[in-house]
Amino acid sequence: MLNRRRFALGLAATVSPGLFGSRSGNGEPVDFSTPLPIPKLIDAAKKGNAVKLRAAPGMHAFIKGKPTSTYGYSAPVLGPVIRLRRGDEVEMTVENALDCETTVHCHGLSVPSHIDGGPHQPIKPGNSWRPVLRIDQPPSTAWFHPHAHHDTGRQVYMGLTGMIIIDDSSYSHLDLPRAYGVDDLPIILQDRSFESDGSLDYSPSPLSVIYGSRGDTIVVNGAIRPLAEVPRGLVRLRLLDAANARNFYLRFSDRRTFHVIASDAGFLTAPVAVSLLTISPGERFEILVDFTDGKAVTLETGPDEQIGLFDVLTDHDAEGEYAPVMRFQPATRPVVRRTMPARLVEPAAADPNAAVARRRFILDCRMGMRHGHAGMDEVQMGINGKSHDMARIDLDVKLGTTEIWEIVSIRTGHPFHVHGAAFRILSLNGQAPRAHLLGWKDVALVESKAELLVAFNQPATRQSPFMFHCHILEHEDAGMMGQYVCA
Ligand code: C2O
Ligand code: CU
Ligand code: CU
Repeated sequence: MLNRRRFALGLAATVSPGLFGSRSGNGEPVDFSTPLPIPKLIDAAKKGNAVKLRAAPGMHAFIKGKPTSTYGYSAPVLGPVIRLRRGDEVEMTVENALDCETTVHCHGLSVPSHIDGGPHQPIKPGNSWRPVLRIDQPPSTAWFHPHAHHDTGRQVYMGLTGMIIIDDSSYSHLDLPRAYGVDDLPIILQDRSFESDGSLDYSPSPLSVIYGSRGDTIVVNGAIRPLAEVPRGLVRLRLLDAANARNFYLRFSDRRTFHVIASDAGFLTAPVAVSLLTISPGERFEILVDFTDGKAVTLETGPDEQIGLFDVLTDHDAEGEYAPVMRFQPATRPVVRRTMPARLVEPAAADPNAAVARRRFILDCRMGMRHGHAGMDEVQMGINGKSHDMARIDLDVKLGTTEIWEIVSIRTGHPFHVHGAAFRILSLNGQAPRAHLLGWKDVALVESKAELLVAFNQPATRQSPFMFHCHILEHEDAGMMGQYVCA
């Protein structure tokens, strides 16, 4: 705590007032006139299991009448939602029509390292990449994004993000909403800052490296404060925090309870009732919201305390601190009532006693201060004192085993992510995790420390190791990432 406070105070002099923006109450009336964009669905099975993506520049007007340059996957911004079926073999083709190298990492997809789409599988401009994906994992919500060496933050900020839905018909006995775009909605949460001409402002500075790129405007599926018309019943939202750095503290304006049914890597044992849900970069939660009462309601987010500035302790229930994210308008006609399942699935067992190793990872950053200057020269992010090196293997793990990983965050919270693996959170900040964090995951927001039971189920070679890193993309680009081999 002391560390974080000192760190933040030291920076105060260099913070420009506009950096963190105003979150609410800026005097403008809240207008929810843009319909929630629903990305095109690519149902792989209906396309002969051949999925094509084209990463290309585009134009998109986040602000009405002010179109600006963006990147997208076969779309001006963002990309399609790809539905994959367990048991299928999917031929993916990614064409790089950008003027820079990129990669496509399917975050949450369980595949071997040579087709993971990390920084070791770059696609040169004008080239294509053709991995064959064998889908064998429980139903879940995953996503895809670039993982280009030192350029991930900018490429994601420009718009490269898409969602993946993994389906498995053996779970269809669960009576859950599954009509894409109707009662099963992708909700891709991001934040952006705009210049006065509506263009995206991605200007890296030592400060934006430390705090990550944070925008003053919240964007959902590429739209600012959209409106979703939903059936009058139970609706499933697939929440994805695809922001570069921002955590969302979600609640509904009427403080209604909603149910978390799945986290990153699949269903929870049973729906968990919550009224506030924190989601950090890279994380996914599927929630069920009951709109049977027919009342319109706003989804809001609280102030992001991870900024750590002055170390203010924020009260999430403080009135006026919440900013609108989007609005839901239920239809007037009632629908057939669906009941919330009491049980979902029994997740694969996880026995901490079977772990074959215990390791500790300290996530930290160092700054080089220029003599007699308020700013900073250089920010170095690392894990256990080492910045990411494409040529260095940080550890070897054994395929098919589990290990306990202790993650320690210094100064500020970090959303920690592991490729090619899934984990259970054993403890979080010295406590047992809350019920909705008890399932299989691949990102954990570590505010001080965490113990994770990591299961290694995919092989990784020396030529193409798997990554583990902080999912604040500016931290990752600045080196808060390591590499492991798994055999
Ligand atoms: Cu979302 Cu290294 O990934
Ligand atoms: Cu990943
Ligand atoms: Cu970080």
